[in-house]
Amino acid sequence: MTPPYTRPTTSPKDMTELETGGRDPERASVAERTDGAQARVIAPAKGRTIALRDLNAYYGDTHAVRGVSLDYAANQVTAMIGPSGCGKSTLVRCINRMHEEVPGARAEGQVTLDDIDIYGDGVDPTSVRRVVGMVFQKPNPFPTMSIFDNVAAGIRLSGTRGVDLRERVEWALACAGLWDEVRDRLGAPGVGLSGGQQQRLCIARTIAVEPEVILMDEPCSALDPIATLRIEDLIQDLKERYTIVIVTHNMQQAARVADTTAFMLNGELIEHAPTEKIFSQPADTRTEEYVTGKFG
Ligand SMILES: Nc1ncnc2c1ncn2[C@@H]1O[C@H](COP(=O)(O)OP(=O)(O)OP(=O)(O)O)[C@@H](O)[C@H]1O
Ligand SMILES: [Mg+2]
Repeated sequence: MTPPYTRPTTSPKDMTELETGGRDPERASVAERTDGAQARVIAPAKGRTIALRDLNAYYGDTHAVRGVSLDYAANQVTAMIGPSGCGKSTLVRCINRMHEEVPGARAEGQVTLDDIDIYGDGVDPTSVRRVVGMVFQKPNPFPTMSIFDNVAAGIRLSGTRGVDLRERVEWALACAGLWDEVRDRLGAPGVGLSGGQQQRLCIARTIAVEPEVILMDEPCSALDPIATLRIEDLIQDLKERYTIVIVTHNMQQAARVADTTAFMLNGELIEHAPTEKIFSQPADTRTEEYVTGKFG
């Protein structure tokens, strides 16, 4: 299949048309469903595989990610762990081309989604970011916007032609496990929600534009244990539809949610293996020292 987002585009609106037009029925978007009842069914989208090959990332002279090659399986959750400053955030930001937004920053190497090189010629970074959504450490709802508008914002940006906005917002909130809590106050400010609700709102905002990969950079570090477990349950549900990469400092969280775990140190990938193996029989002594709390 020709990847729709490698085609040259003139505007985000055109991109939306290309994306929905080029999809196979398996990836049919909510927008394409006209029957109201059916539109509430979660579309059976599939996540993509991600492959990093000799990925290097720099901030000026700082070499933050060093020759990382790593495969993320589709519809799996992969945890990125490692001590502060080892390059986890930088690495995940290379997967949706956000790293290059930092002045003086650059990335080298290959990142492919299925078989598409996202750093290839003619690839529009904006379209990559639509396919690879991101959720940040601290919930960041748009401060002046209502709950509804927070979720609708991304859809509006990418063009609403043919999209039943209300339907899509409801669907995204339902996917994020928040609909029942907010259905009666969609017009209330997003920032009026609790921290855990705000994080689910941000997840709904990410889902609303129908990505295929979701990157989460410490999405629970600002949340209490109950809200954290709620997000972890949600991650388990979301992996049916998306490929998920989650950065975490919480070893228990990695053990609970991740199918595989990757350990980084000083910008390098030390080891990537099934999570159980990383925590019980890691191949590298540095991994063992880290997961048993000897450093970091
Ligand atoms: N905007 C930036 N400008 C310059 N250097 C940066 C910038 N962001 C990160 N770095 C450097 O890149 C390296 C990797 O940082 P990164 O934020 O990716 O680490 P991390 O593993 O996510 O750490 P943490 O667990 O503390 O979030 C560090 O040496 C850091 O100081
Ligand atoms: Mg970080």
